[in-house]
Amino acid sequence: MRRLLVTHALPYANGPLHLGHMLGYIQTDIWARAQRMLGNEVHFVAADDAHGTPIMLAAEKAGKTPEAFIAEIRQGHEADFTDFHFSYDQYHTTHSPENRELAELIYGRLRDRGLIAKRSIQQLYDPEKQMFLPDRYIKGTCPKCGTPDQYGDNCEHCGATYAPTDLIEPRSVMSGATPVLRDSEHYFFELGKSEQLLRDWFAGKYTAGQPVMHASVAAKLKEWLDGGLKDWDISRDAPYFGFPIPDAPGKFFYVWLDAPIGYLASFKALCDRTGLEFDDFLGTDSTAEMHHFIGKDIINFHGLFWPAVLHGADMRVPTALHVNGYLTVNGAKMSKSRGTFIQARTYLDAGINPEFLRYYFATMLSAAPVDVDLDLKAFEERINSHLVGKWVNIASRTAGFAHRHFNGKLAGHFDAAEAGLWQDLLGHYEGIEQLYADGDFSEVTRRFVLMADAVNAYIAAKAPWQLAKDPAREDGLQQVCTLALSAFRLLSGLLKPILPASVASAEQFLAAPIADFDDARRELFGHVVGEFKPLLVRVDPKRIAAMIEASKESLGSDHGAAATATAADTKVATSADKVPVSAPASTHDATGPAAEISIDDFAALDLRIGKVLVCEAVEGSTKLLRFELDAGVLGKRQIFSGIRAAYSEPARLVGRNVVFIANLAARKMRFGVSEGMILSAGSGGADLYLLDADQGAQPGATVR
Ligand code: 2FM
Ligand code: ZN
Repeated sequence: MRRLLVTHALPYANGPLHLGHMLGYIQTDIWARAQRMLGNEVHFVAADDAHGTPIMLAAEKAGKTPEAFIAEIRQGHEADFTDFHFSYDQYHTTHSPENRELAELIYGRLRDRGLIAKRSIQQLYDPEKQMFLPDRYIKGTCPKCGTPDQYGDNCEHCGATYAPTDLIEPRSVMSGATPVLRDSEHYFFELGKSEQLLRDWFAGKYTAGQPVMHASVAAKLKEWLDGGLKDWDISRDAPYFGFPIPDAPGKFFYVWLDAPIGYLASFKALCDRTGLEFDDFLGTDSTAEMHHFIGKDIINFHGLFWPAVLHGADMRVPTALHVNGYLTVNGAKMSKSRGTFIQARTYLDAGINPEFLRYYFATMLSAAPVDVDLDLKAFEERINSHLVGKWVNIASRTAGFAHRHFNGKLAGHFDAAEAGLWQDLLGHYEGIEQLYADGDFSEVTRRFVLMADAVNAYIAAKAPWQLAKDPAREDGLQQVCTLALSAFRLLSGLLKPILPASVASAEQFLAAPIADFDDARRELFGHVVGEFKPLLVRVDPKRIAAMIEASKESLGSDHGAAATATAADTKVATSADKVPVSAPASTHDATGPAAEISIDDFAALDLRIGKVLVCEAVEGSTKLLRFELDAGVLGKRQIFSGIRAAYSEPARLVGRNVVFIANLAARKMRFGVSEGMILSAGSGGADLYLLDADQGAQPGATVR
């Protein structure tokens, strides 16, 4: 029996879970459940990742203390997890005494081993808000290509990466103030000192030669390793929501220091509750295994930083990283405007069975970190065909005969035909255990379809409804029931980690619990099955449509038309959620629903109709168009707008109406002054559409 500690990436406590989160989390739960069925000792733990600037600011914006804010978010997360049938042994938070203690312990050990360095760095500081600014809270013009309105760490237009201090005309996203450079002492984890450890770990030295991750992930990490390991900044200055660094007044542990330690904190809470020995799992001589399921965007934290921290702190290193890709919906990045940025709760509220999502994801998942597309039409068809049409159908077509003709009692043996088919089924079932252990769920479900098809074909050929008419053929009828219901149980065993609730109902109907994968191989000879009740209801496309609509409705005011930042956009408002949010499988730039505003907030915007007098490409910019608008009573306006990719023939826009913000502070740019912001809808790039007004709207008319 193996002893396994299993975790998935910890969701930030700054907003609700969406289906992108669920991809990696569901993968983890299926694996954990399968491992339990394999007879291993599994401890599946997770937690909310509750620290950091975005959460601090989101709480502030919501008018709550960070503690109250994260408690509320955690409640929502836990409700979602319960409803999606997660089988945690412990769900915790990184803002907990266990985590504080462990973070201090680990940090102390790293320091005592000479792995922590201190040095002064220069960072941009918001003099109005009185705080140092994370890169994502600074915007300005790209130093490489001149595109305005780019984040402090990289340019979305030309892809350049740079330091926020390189930005031209930087400004604080929070206050709009011009940030100033300030010195601050930071604490660093000297990752370079762990190079050999990491090379050994990749080579399987700590896992008896077993690979610790998929080859493609290892290749990526080795690239970074070969490029040289940089020191890792682990401190942040006050104000910060996190744990203070002992003996360092005003300094806090950076969220990414105490986040992975949160895995251990959650496990520690479990140990304290159940009497498990923490050191049996975390000690350097541990024979237990530690498996982390993560999204591919955070492999550097888990594949470089985390093992080095653990080792430096005298703890065991991870056994394996299981990496999943990103989720797209209907072939594209999840999009608020298309209604495909779907929250877990919106899915549940639409009345769609949560197990259907588990099954659909399972059909797409393997050990490789592949991206998964949730094609909603394919989802509907696959669920209705596989689960209702193939699986449940086997029971619903035969259970009635078993009851009416045999009081539910099945035959004591198989005849030749049934014995042959049963052997075929067992042949397909062979190796299910290993497929689950390898994370190859798509092959598991492929086998399921093969087997179910064979059984349904058998039932169709035997036509039990005909046999039932002829008292001389009762034995044949009982054979059909016995084969079909034994096969139904075999398939239920196969599906159990994926569909825990439906299989529980199936077990109840069969009156034959399925202890493990092997137990499912037992024929139901002489067994009396219980009463059959419909197990699943087909996916109703109306519910899917309702889910999409509801996802659109959860849009905040910030998202529709005004969401596309143009040249003069100093708004960028939703500070907190603009920061890469919880990531396992998601769209990183999408924002959560904006906070509610009052009518006064809206009234503060002076929206007007402008008639395009001139529209032309801007030389030296690949992104901008220069507009001259007739703004009626407001005179003429020059506005630069970053929509060039969407309008290849700018001259054709002359004469039409646009909607613009007239009272946005004018902004001096490299190409001239921009006096407002033109609104367009869409996700950016070529996917942008200018707004228009119906006939009769005059230049300068107000929009309310
Ligand atoms: O990227 C994220 O969403 C992080 N909250 C993941 C943390 S995983 C672990 F290290 F805690
Ligand atoms: Zn650029």
